[in-house]
Amino acid sequence: MKKITHAVIPVAGFGTRMLPLSKSVPKELLPLGNRPAIHYVVAEAIAAGIKHIVLVSHAQKSAIENYFDINAELDTQLRHKGKDELADSLNWLPEDVTVSMIRQGKPLGLGHAVLAARPIIGAHDFAVMLPDVVLDPYTTDMSVDNLAFMIERFANDGHSQILVETVADSDVHKYGIAKLTDAIHAADTEVGTGNQGGNASFKVAGFVEKPSLAEAPSNLAVVGRYVFSNRIFDYLATTTASVGGEIQLTDAIDALISEDGVNVTTMHGDSYDAGDMRSYMQAFIYFAEQQLADDK
Ligand code: G1P
Repeated sequence: MKKITHAVIPVAGFGTRMLPLSKSVPKELLPLGNRPAIHYVVAEAIAAGIKHIVLVSHAQKSAIENYFDINAELDTQLRHKGKDELADSLNWLPEDVTVSMIRQGKPLGLGHAVLAARPIIGAHDFAVMLPDVVLDPYTTDMSVDNLAFMIERFANDGHSQILVETVADSDVHKYGIAKLTDAIHAADTEVGTGNQGGNASFKVAGFVEKPSLAEAPSNLAVVGRYVFSNRIFDYLATTTASVGGEIQLTDAIDALISEDGVNVTTMHGDSYDAGDMRSYMQAFIYFAEQQLADDK
């Protein structure tokens, strides 16, 4: 049983798609309703059983770490004013969950960011969660769906897992796209029973990072949730820059596929790209509406 307890969240990126908002506020701290976007990603990790979260960060983004720290002065002041409930709500991280931070140093790509977490992750297998993608907590049960499902699959068969969802033709160029051969697809869809709230898992032949529509092997896009065997670090350490001049996680995954076999898990529920202005604005409205309805 290979239980995943560690998750890496890369937060060093500048968020150029979210300018001007992200010029002085890290995009991960932009609100979705009454909480910053990264709050939901960390809450998702905790619901799925993660105990140690590693933020791969940048000097200009220390406000993210502060969000997960206890502000003793604020805590004292709130309690002094009798606002104990509010103070308690700010200290929401469970006692047995640790959030640590490591710097990426150079902006050499997503693969490089994940590799930067190696000194903390050590020999553990681990999850990677991209903070741009926020899964809708109102339509899925994070303790069984998506990441939790992938962690369970990994514990059962040892194959790394990658979450995918179907995207429109006009969007394939924004994502890593799964490559399925007919034979592999037909043979392995039965592996995914679609239980546990709609997730299904099957083997994948490879990925193409941000293809044109003509080059796209399918419409199944990598959503930003991964469960990796520790071997991915060895591949990342030897991966050289490719698409966009960056060290791509996708290239290391291709190497992992040829050695170990990797499964994709189809996403259950909805996701929001909080790193894209249009989609972020829609997400904000959705989260705010849910919370206003809850407050009634
Ligand atoms: C990254 C990954 C890509 C994935 C996407 C999901 O790209 O490289 O495979 O589909 O996240 O958001 P980025 O959006 O960081 O350029």
